Amino acid sequence: MTLRLKVNGEPCGSESPPDARLLDFLREELRLTGAKEGCGEGECGACAVLLDGQLVNSCLIPLGQLEGAEVVTIEGLPADSPLARAFGRAGGTQCGICTPGMMLAATALLAEHPRPSLEQIRAGLDGNLCRCTGYTGIYAAIAEAAEEKA
Ligand code: FES
Ligand code: FES
Repeated sequence: MTLRLKVNGEPCGSESPPDARLLDFLREELRLTGAKEGCGEGECGACAVLLDGQLVNSCLIPLGQLEGAEVVTIEGLPADSPLARAFGRAGGTQCGICTPGMMLAATALLAEHPRPSLEQIRAGLDGNLCRCTGYTGIYAAIAEAAEEKA
């Protein structure tokens, strides 16, 4: 049976088995390679996307759960948003592996807390690992983006 869902606002479908991973569907069928495979076990956030507005790790989501769902990947976020600009300015990205997941976690965080405290920023990103930046630039980028939007 064909699965029907929307990805970045576009209707799409898949004939893959219901236990196929959302991460593989995005990367291999749709060629949306922004979501990365890190741990493959739900521990690093490199594969994070928004599913019906909620931050999820796409390596843990089977396609069978997605009939009628709306998925947003990093490719669906504006390239020149306050958040993207702030990540560049504040040194929130280095190798870039974690950046798509961080940006989606930040998007979910800012939707819930438009002016987040440092504690809320830390909590919003606690499922996303970065091996390069020491997190300071990432936290600063999110605070800057929140200021700019406000
Ligand atoms: S690859 Fe999905 S959480 Fe690490
Ligand atoms: S920028 Fe390299 S893992 Fe975060």
